[in-house]
Amino acid sequence: MGKLAFRFLVVLSFISFLLVLPCAQGWSKEGHILTCEIAQELLNPEAADAVQDLLPESAGGNLSAMCVWADQIRLQSKYRWASPLHYANTPDSCSFVYKRDCHNDAGQPDMCVAGAIRNFTTQLTTYRTQGSDSPHNLTEALLFLSHFVGDIHQPLHVGFASDEGGNTIEVRWFRRKSNLHHVWDRDIILTALADYYDKDGGLLLEELQRNLTQGIWSNDVPTWERCVKVNSCVNKWAEESTDLACKWAYEGVEAGITLSEDYFDSRLPIVMERLAQGGVRLAMLLNRVFSEDATQGFAYSS
Ligand SMILES: *[C@@H]1O[C@H](CO)[C@@H](O)[C@H](O)[C@H]1NC(C)=O
Ligand SMILES: *[C@@H]1O[C@H](CO)[C@@H](O)[C@H](O)[C@H]1NC(C)=O
Ligand SMILES: *[C@@H]1O[C@H](CO)[C@@H](O)[C@H](O)[C@H]1NC(C)=O
Ligand SMILES: *[C@@H]1O[C@H](CO)[C@@H](O)[C@H](O)[C@H]1NC(C)=O
Repeated sequence: MGKLAFRFLVVLSFISFLLVLPCAQGWSKEGHILTCEIAQELLNPEAADAVQDLLPESAGGNLSAMCVWADQIRLQSKYRWASPLHYANTPDSCSFVYKRDCHNDAGQPDMCVAGAIRNFTTQLTTYRTQGSDSPHNLTEALLFLSHFVGDIHQPLHVGFASDEGGNTIEVRWFRRKSNLHHVWDRDIILTALADYYDKDGGLLLEELQRNLTQGIWSNDVPTWERCVKVNSCVNKWAEESTDLACKWAYEGVEAGITLSEDYFDSRLPIVMERLAQGGVRLAMLLNRVFSEDATQGFAYSS
């Protein structure tokens, strides 16, 4: 190979590395936007006002436009601490145990997606109690929370430590190279958009909302929203994810396998339900932390 061709290849692989990197870090942009659009639609007037007040001007009042912020800042050194907050890893067991699994690589407790949701929910309660005297940047708390409630619902964000939540399991998605984590972050959603929704996220959103209000999930919504203590709720959502990871994401998959129609058809309903649940639960959290009625608040002890 010529020297020039080699350089070209090096540059090319670096570019594709950069392109792949952000995608391996949470529901894709499309997934986060859907979850936050569902949530914003379900806000009560008090919470809608608070969100409006905290969103940066540039968002134009649209929460979903900012729900990918936590991925966009992830590589900045200023925010390096937040990188482990997108996921939790289990010791290859189909269970999530907060004390065992919620820490970063340095073993610092609470530094995982479940701890982050607790953290930013607690921070946001100071909006009512302290307003602009809050010691926290509540804009960032809102953006982090909106992102991480999405992430905790992606089954492989509570996956196995040994394969980094499926990131190291290389597979083909139809004819393209991918990895199992990315299949769940993005490939399933993009294939659905292309096959059924004319690549129009708005059409998919309408169908998700229809299924929530008068369709298959309308009876489930009260159960999804049920939450007395934030800490237990967050643990439950993580347990659901790890359970789905074992039953659906890892099931029948080994490195090098080609995943196509069968896998897509059987897993798509799970992905759709998790996007919808994330939206419903984000709205539930925001409605309650921003409520002026203290009896609507949460008990914070675990
Ligand atoms: C909000 O932002 C998202 C993401 O940028 C976009 O897809 C959506 O159309 C916007 N919604 C409105 C009502 O502007
Ligand atoms: C909570 O948020 C603060 C920033 O406001 C951060 O320094 C801390 O590491 C966060 N902890 C968790 C568990 O998210
Ligand atoms: C809070 O965070 C946002 C987003 O990072 C930033 O634009 C804003 O300047 C911060 N506010 C303060 C008071 O630091
Ligand atoms: C909505 O529900 C119908 C069944 O009533 C199902 O066929 C469809 O896939 C669901 N759509 C989404 C986006 O979940």
